Amino acid sequence: MDWKQQFQGKILSADEAVRHIKSGDKISIAHVGSEPYALTEALARNKEAFRDVDLYFLLSLGQAPHMEPGMEEHIRFHGIFLGGTTRKAVAEGRGEYLPGFFHQYPRMLEERGGIDVLLISISAPDQHGYCSMGTGIDHLPYAKDRAGLVIAQMNRNLPRVMGDSFIHLRDIDIIVEEDRLMPELPPVPITEVERKIGENCASLVKDGDTLQLGIGGIPDAVVTFLKDKKDLGLHTEMAADGVVDLIKSGVINNKRKKIDRGKSIATFAAGTKKLYDFLDNNPAFELRAVDYVNNPYTIAQNDNVVSINSCIQVDLMGQVNAEVVKGMQFSGVGGQVDFVRGANMSKGGRAIMALPSTAAGGTISKIVPFLDHGAAVTTLRTEVNYVVTEYGIAQLWGKTLRERAKALIAIAHPDFREGLQAEYEKRFHEKWKA
Ligand code: COA
Repeated sequence: MDWKQQFQGKILSADEAVRHIKSGDKISIAHVGSEPYALTEALARNKEAFRDVDLYFLLSLGQAPHMEPGMEEHIRFHGIFLGGTTRKAVAEGRGEYLPGFFHQYPRMLEERGGIDVLLISISAPDQHGYCSMGTGIDHLPYAKDRAGLVIAQMNRNLPRVMGDSFIHLRDIDIIVEEDRLMPELPPVPITEVERKIGENCASLVKDGDTLQLGIGGIPDAVVTFLKDKKDLGLHTEMAADGVVDLIKSGVINNKRKKIDRGKSIATFAAGTKKLYDFLDNNPAFELRAVDYVNNPYTIAQNDNVVSINSCIQVDLMGQVNAEVVKGMQFSGVGGQVDFVRGANMSKGGRAIMALPSTAAGGTISKIVPFLDHGAAVTTLRTEVNYVVTEYGIAQLWGKTLRERAKALIAIAHPDFREGLQAEYEKRFHEKWKA
């Protein structure tokens, strides 16, 4: 039977749909490519229908009118990770940052009383009535079962992604039909510094390794140096364009994985049409729930896991701040600690922290004697092992504080080494010797 006939009573307009949200509700909205724009726009248009709604949300790739100034009496944002729009909302006092490990996001939501309403995007249903929730899966498997009201924008352009992405039409309360183009995150050109860092990171990757690649220019650069590797696996938080060619060429084939053999695994994906087309109906690439993918115990079940993440600054003890810039919450812990821990626990695993040696046009060293005032320690010094810049690799495990400082100064930008060496002499009562 035609789904429309069967579920006719559930089909509403976006404005009618969001008016089912009640004051005081806790709502969650799917993110990245799964953000239901017809619904978020309707939230802004219908704001007078509710007050004091708690919103849980992650990353937007497009406009977020529901988080613009003037919405705060109606919708208050809470985020475990901040991007452009959400960072602004927190900086301007219209939202709050929620520190936590990404793999525990469902648990944190539960601690805060759960979710009343879930807003998602869905693909067209298959012959059994199942729709895919698209490219931003992470906490949706939890939220779809927890929410008392599930409102879905059916967008026929949403890729039909495999994994934990499916929801049956009978489990959706309101369906809003509106096709939108997928929002894209175009890759930025790789800089010379990123290219060098990528090359240094790739020198630590061996045939048969399973990779986690973080977000941004450095992971994109690493990928360009992996073309001659063999039998790589992918178990990552975010899938981006960079991995598509490696999978198509067979460099990533997931053959040597201990779990999810033969499949690439991520919890969300953000990129261009190239990535979205690749994920569409692809049984070799699954987006799974974040409490599975990012759980260090899951990650550690594969051998030789290599995690590659970036940070704002690292101090001479190896402590990493990956989330606070000049005292302001810039991003979040995300999956960094999840993957550093998972890689460290994996047999043969290696956790890499990759960063340019400087920021702000070369005026600030990212290797510092002390983390900035107001910084957060995202990853502990006891967990940070390989630190990579364009000047080389510092391996920290098994090294004393003095040896760590020495290794880190050796990969700092030459313009800042003198100052760091002076700090070394003061701290360790020893004349600097390279
Ligand atoms: N001091 C002052 N400013 C600094 C700085 C420092 N040490 N390091 C970076 N900045 C500034 C940059 O100049 C830039 O400013 P701009 O936006 O005005 O240009 C901004 O901070 C962001 O730095 P950038 O190097 O462009 O960031 P990025 O896109 O490479 O992301 C992190 C780096 C650390 C923010 C990002 O990797 C992150 O959020 N990590 C935590 C989560 C994580 O690792 N998840 C992994 C699983 S996917």
